[in-house]
Formats: sequence, C-alpha cells, structure tokens
Amino acid sequence: MNSTVKHFCIANWKMSLSNKESIDYINKLNTLHFNENCEIVICPSYTSISDIVKLNINNIYNVGAQDVSSFEKGAYTGQISINMLEHLNCKYVILGHSERRNFYFEKNKIIKKKVEIALKAGLIPIICIGESFIERKKNYIKVLSKQLEECVPDKLNKTIVIAYEPIWSIGSGVTPTYDEILKVKEHISEFLMKKKNISDVKVLYGGSVSSKNFSEIMINTGVNGALIGSASIDLRQINKILSYCYFD
Ligand code: PGA
Repeated sequence: MNSTVKHFCIANWKMSLSNKESIDYINKLNTLHFNENCEIVICPSYTSISDIVKLNINNIYNVGAQDVSSFEKGAYTGQISINMLEHLNCKYVILGHSERRNFYFEKNKIIKKKVEIALKAGLIPIICIGESFIERKKNYIKVLSKQLEECVPDKLNKTIVIAYEPIWSIGSGVTPTYDEILKVKEHISEFLMKKKNISDVKVLYGGSVSSKNFSEIMINTGVNGALIGSASIDLRQINKILSYCYFD
C-alpha cells in the first residue's frame, strides 16, 4: 500500500458490467490522469479480473475481488479460492458486504474466516460493516462494535481497511451527516486499538457516494476514502472524483 495515498476510491462494480463493458471502461480509464493522492481499486466480477489486471499498462489502479470462498481449497462447486485471486494479482478483497450478509446469509464468523484467509495470502481485506434502518434507531454503535469484534482477528500487524456502509444508505441517495460519519470513523479506530490492539486501519465510507458528495465527505469527515457502488460504473463520475483527488 502506498504510504502517500490520501484517498481510496474503491469501485465496487457488483454484477453490473459484462466482460466487454469492463474492458471498454478500463480502456477509457487508462486515458485519464491520476496522481498519488488517490488509489483507485477496481473490483469487477470474477470473470473480468484477469483482463482488467492485464490492461493495467500504466499501473494506475489496483484490482480487488468482491468476495472469496471461506475455504482455502477443496470440492466447493461454484467457489473462487484466495489462491486463485492471488495468482491473478488481486491486491484487495471486499468482505462482509451487506448484500452478502443479506442475500447469502453470511455471518460474522464466516467473514472473519475469510479475513484470515485473505491476510494469510497477502491480500488486503476491505471489511464492510453497517447498520440497518431499524438498527439505526437503536444503539447502532453497538451493532457496529459487534461486527468489528466478530469479524476482525486480534493483534494484526497488517493493514486492514474497514468500510462503514450503513445499509439504509446503499443505493438510496441518502447519507448520514458528516458528524455521524466522523463519529463512526473515530469509534472504529478507537475500538480496534483498544480491543484488538490494531493501529494500522484505514476507514472508508460507503453508501450513495457520488461525484457530487465525494469531496465534501472527504473534507468533512476525515475518512480515508470511499467504497463506491453505482457511481463507480459511470466513468464521468469517476473522472470527477479522481479530479478531486488530483487537485487536493
Ligand atoms: P452505492 O453502493 O454507492 O450504490 O450506494 C455502495 C456499495 O454497495 O458498496
């Protein structure tokens, strides 16, 4: 990880782009300008990872996967192992996204296993945490603490990335206030330091981030970057976001 990096821009493409669309996107992305103030991580579908790694001729982005199997190897139909990602030169892997938790019933215990597997293979896990709309009305900081407690291994001496993604904010166009994001960011850092003795943590915000609010969120909350879903599919928006990073 580049120590001069100021902001991460993690593009979570979900299941949106075909292989051809992914290649077209990257060919255009390769013509944009970047500097070290921004680290862009493209997280395409598994089927496009190989091509996207190969197209990184100017070395301007990193590549991540959207998930990985909780098993290291064996007879697990339909699964992708961490070694497969490692051999494709994937540097990051998104784990515990709320869509995995909700639609595939992934629990904290499984997410922690995936985090351990990723770290062992040298990939950087981007661990997603976040509260639902109903949990928001109660003590949602407690909900986030439980996710951190149960998903993050103890005493790590490696960098981890935590993405705070309130579930009610994903794809809704609604975001928490800057103060609320700041409060969660501080809580994550303090909690991991106190309970897990982890100091090297980058905190991202995710949920309805776009070119319209990216810079304001960065300035007003001090997070280390954003995990971006739908806006990351739109190259014009990504261009604007990267321009912000460039001129910061
Ligand atoms: P969104 O998704 O930016 O479309 O809200 C974010 C995410 O799911 O990671």
